[in-house]
Amino acid sequence: MMLSEHCPLFNLNPEIPLNGYTYSLCKMQVGIDDLAIYVPKLYVDYKDFAEARGIAPQKLEHGIGIKKMALADTNQDPACMAANACLKLMQRNHLHPKDIGRMYVATESALDESKAMNSFVIGMLEQVYGEGSFEHAGGIECKFACVSGSYALYDNTNWIRAEENNGKAAIVIVSDIAKYDIGSSGEYTQGAGAVAILVKENPRILAFDKKVTSTIIKNEYDFYRPCGKETPLVNGNYSNLLYLIQVRKAFDSYKEKAIRTGLISIKDDESITDYIDLFSVHLPYRKMGEKALAYLLRHEWRHLPRWSYVIKEVAMEEPLPKDPRGTIESILADTEFMKADEKFRRAFVQTSFYNEIFEKKMASSLQASTIIGNLYTASMYMGFRSLLEFEYKKGTDLEAKRVGFGSYGSGSSAMVFSGVIQPQYKEIVKRMNLEVEIGPRKKVSMEEYGKLHENGISFNDSILQTNKEFILAKIGGTTADKAGLREYIYIN
Ligand code: HMG
Repeated sequence: MMLSEHCPLFNLNPEIPLNGYTYSLCKMQVGIDDLAIYVPKLYVDYKDFAEARGIAPQKLEHGIGIKKMALADTNQDPACMAANACLKLMQRNHLHPKDIGRMYVATESALDESKAMNSFVIGMLEQVYGEGSFEHAGGIECKFACVSGSYALYDNTNWIRAEENNGKAAIVIVSDIAKYDIGSSGEYTQGAGAVAILVKENPRILAFDKKVTSTIIKNEYDFYRPCGKETPLVNGNYSNLLYLIQVRKAFDSYKEKAIRTGLISIKDDESITDYIDLFSVHLPYRKMGEKALAYLLRHEWRHLPRWSYVIKEVAMEEPLPKDPRGTIESILADTEFMKADEKFRRAFVQTSFYNEIFEKKMASSLQASTIIGNLYTASMYMGFRSLLEFEYKKGTDLEAKRVGFGSYGSGSSAMVFSGVIQPQYKEIVKRMNLEVEIGPRKKVSMEEYGKLHENGISFNDSILQTNKEFILAKIGGTTADKAGLREYIYIN
């Protein structure tokens, strides 16, 4: 008897004889089989924005790394963006609802304090697939700022690893509208969109590494949005530094696990980053990706022999804060150190050492962010999607390459994990085309943007006509017991 007869979906190890029978060890790989995106077609151009706010356009283009910020139309919300991404994923893969065992939606743009966003999404999808067609597909809405999609992916991956899935796949959708106050420094880090991720056994794109996923968590107020408030309260510089520190801490834990489990072994003069072929990190804006990589490499390299060569190129010693064990507040208040550290970082990112790694391992993941903006939960996954497409277009062979993920959510938690690109990835990646998938876009004037921002246009007066998409058709009924009820329709 072969155990493989009982688990035909699994990758099988060479057979091991045991008790007169031949058993095969199930070595199940679980990960990302495909991903589909939905980006609203309205956008604000950075030059118009800069002019209206009296900011140098170069600051937005180079200092932040934004050219186009995607904006939701009046009849779009995070639930219909999620449903649109999910429908694309299902249609492209010829999936039927019975193939899906779980559907999770991770968002920080909740529409209801109680009703979960996945229920809205299922309601929309059932307009296409038939009433009740998803009734078996359990799931929840997950919240932890931008990191919750990664927790949702991890939990669903483990649901499959635990063989609770009865051969079914899971869909994790990350969907958000990043909206900040007019005139705030967060305003140029807005965006909107969704990514639907198909998680299954023997995935075609990426298999997650086992037993190395690492999290870090702390009660923080770097960015938060009290109930009922549409825009967040943000401590911008604090949030930047906290992101770097939390991801670095989660990375330290990842490193310890990767070495202990034998996933990666390194020599004394090596860094674990030498064994991570590509990086995909949370991208509130493009420049943050560059900063995160610089912070991580400095942390990883400063004790290695190569550091003396780096320092030679930087042409200054790395500064230390007055109190290296101080709080984030004390470090930020140490203005002398902050200035020197900024100077050092700027010189470090100019070095050949940094640039080689940046171009080879990260640059492709940042391209989508520049033309879409912050997608909160969806940012890192849009970045991963961007990494695949633009590395493929460069002609890189990605098979067997390890991708390291650095996910961050304010409030605050970071998750670091990794996965390996699978032999069949080309099948999926060769048809990726960001511009085609977004579709023809419409630039809105700053006046229209202002009205959209203050919700000054009824959802019946959308700017664009929709085709083959879910839209919001109605909010609330005529009686009090129907208050807040949302109705969506599919425009064929
Ligand atoms: P700011 O006031 O624009 O910062 O706020 P700045 O004045 O330091 O300028 C930014 C960069 O532009 C600097 O470059 C300037 O030098 C450069 P850097 O020093 O960083 O390399 N600059 C120029 N460059 C070229 N030409 C010029 C020029 N002028 C200046 N003429 C900040 C920036 C990100 C703080 C703000 O936009 C903000 O508060 N954003 C929202 C919060 C945020 O995104 N935080 C990121 C970390 S927390 C996170 O990622 C979680 C989050 O996604 C939420 C969640 O988890 O749900 C936000």
